Amino acid sequence: MTSRVAILISGSGSNMVALAQSMAGDHPGRPCLVLSNDPQAGGLAKAQAMGIPTAVVDHRPFRGDRAAFEAAMLEQLDAAQPDLIALAGFMRVLTADFVRRFEGRMLNIHPSLLPKYKGLDTHARAIAAGDAEAGCTVHEVTAALDDGPILGQARVPILSSDTPETLAARILPYEHQLYPLVLRRVLAGERAPIALP
Ligand code: GRF
Repeated sequence: MTSRVAILISGSGSNMVALAQSMAGDHPGRPCLVLSNDPQAGGLAKAQAMGIPTAVVDHRPFRGDRAAFEAAMLEQLDAAQPDLIALAGFMRVLTADFVRRFEGRMLNIHPSLLPKYKGLDTHARAIAAGDAEAGCTVHEVTAALDDGPILGQARVPILSSDTPETLAARILPYEHQLYPLVLRRVLAGERAPIALP
């Protein structure tokens, strides 16, 4: 019995592609939906090209009414019946009610070595702090932003020549390696954190 995985995106969806490509063969999961809050998200066309059902719930008409926006997302998710949700470059903050509905069944990838640098501009903050390394974290989503149990991390050295852009570009391939690894482990019932490299 394979698990149904819904992937939420807001942008290019490179992590969604990595997750979807990994769910093949004897993998315990299969993508059942790619849902975006942005009709222009580049990841939508990528998902469609892979034959994955897609949906869009544009957050803008809801004008900050998070509950109404999430109710519209839930309509799409209830129809897709996911066993697990993977946030992959999804840039909307979710309410505690929404998170509670998927407690323990929702993952996120964040571009920092949590608990450092929750929120935005993570690479710029790591560089400004003079850190020796940066990276990415896959964690369970809880009501507190970027705060749930850590399931995996990848560490990348910061070079003196790094800008936030060059650092992000060096970390992204590690995200594409880490997230599928963690997803497969979680679907197999493994939640002990892993570290790359
Ligand atoms: C990635 O850096 C990810 O860590 C963050 O959003 C960025 C874009 O992700 N959450 P993607 O290319 O849309 O998967």
